[in-house]
Amino acid sequence: MGDPRRVLVVHGPNLNLLGTREPEVYGTATLEEIDAGLVAQGKAAGVEVRCFQSNHEGDLLDRIQEARAWAAGILINPGGLTHTSVALRDALAAVELPVVEVHLSNVHARESFRSHSYVSGIAAGVVTGFGPLSYRLGLTALLDRLAS
Ligand code: DQA
Repeated sequence: MGDPRRVLVVHGPNLNLLGTREPEVYGTATLEEIDAGLVAQGKAAGVEVRCFQSNHEGDLLDRIQEARAWAAGILINPGGLTHTSVALRDALAAVELPVVEVHLSNVHARESFRSHSYVSGIAAGVVTGFGPLSYRLGLTALLDRLAS
């Protein structure tokens, strides 16, 4: 395991569009605002938070694999890959770090295909439906897990 004072935040495809993407579903906060909040939350707890977003599955897998060397845990919103990607699940399982899965929207209150997540089975827990607060709650839970 990496440094207990470092955490990786991963955002999957299309989350770079937050702020303008379907605001009635995902709200108006931008990814930059969400990341700034997480960095500040981590800093207050003495933890360095590094954020990464990509629209490319392989880039996400590379970052997750690299995190094994330096991070103590991963907070992830896998976006649409939640519902499709065995490879993403396998990468998260391979690094053997605690994972917390978050979603802005309540995936269980939407189309039925969003109710299944390949990631949830290897996650310590899932927070879904609270907008940017899902990320804050997820980071709180991950930091608590790392402290125990
Ligand atoms: C999402 C939910 C997913 O179903 C969707 O594909 C996303 C965003 C969320 O944060 O609510 O891209 O992960």
